Amino acid sequence: MELDKILENRRSIRKFAAGSRLTKEMISEFIAAALDAPSWKNTETARYHVVMSPEKIASVRNCFNAWNVNNTENVQALVVTAFEKNLSGYEKDGTPSNELGNGWGIYDAGLQNSIFLLKAAEAGIDSLVMGIRDAEAIRAILGIPESQEILSVIALGEKDSAAERPARKKVEDIVKFY
Ligand SMILES: Cc1cc2nc3c(=O)[nH]c(=O)nc-3n(C[C@H](O)[C@H](O)[C@H](O)COP(=O)(O)O)c2cc1C
Repeated sequence: MELDKILENRRSIRKFAAGSRLTKEMISEFIAAALDAPSWKNTETARYHVVMSPEKIASVRNCFNAWNVNNTENVQALVVTAFEKNLSGYEKDGTPSNELGNGWGIYDAGLQNSIFLLKAAEAGIDSLVMGIRDAEAIRAILGIPESQEILSVIALGEKDSAAERPARKKVEDIVKFY
């Protein structure tokens, strides 16, 4: 599929169909592609905690607000994204290289996560990125170490109904050429 088509196909889905072709192997392929993203000094600090068992999916959904509980009915996987702190954007002696500190870890994870979402879309797998979640409750359920900062939870599955493309800014609204 051409990149433009994949970009058009990727939409935040909030109504998933029961059942999906999604497999552990497919998710591993999305992550393998995401690993091609650039990262600060190639530190590759992004991490993925992939929840596929129905019992564990139910536990993680308990860490959402009512809106996201509703959005994630029938999802086939919940991918908790995280990054190892104090490496990306940091010197070897542990001091931040500049004012953004762990902001660079978030930046790197975002770059990786974008590829992950696009590879999923290419494979016909729909997604929803969720930032509204109780990170510490998820940490406790999955035993995610304190060295990792928890970012989003990405729901994966196949859509029950299509979503409209929300309006976007125009290029001239966000760019300044020098
Ligand atoms: C960091 C981040 C956090 C988000 N959190 C939520 C969320 O908690 N719940 C939700 O339904 N959508 C969430 N979204 C999805 C956005 O609302 C969505 O990407 C945006 O409206 C644009 O729609 P599109 O993805 O279909 O292009 C989030 C997206 C991002 C990138």
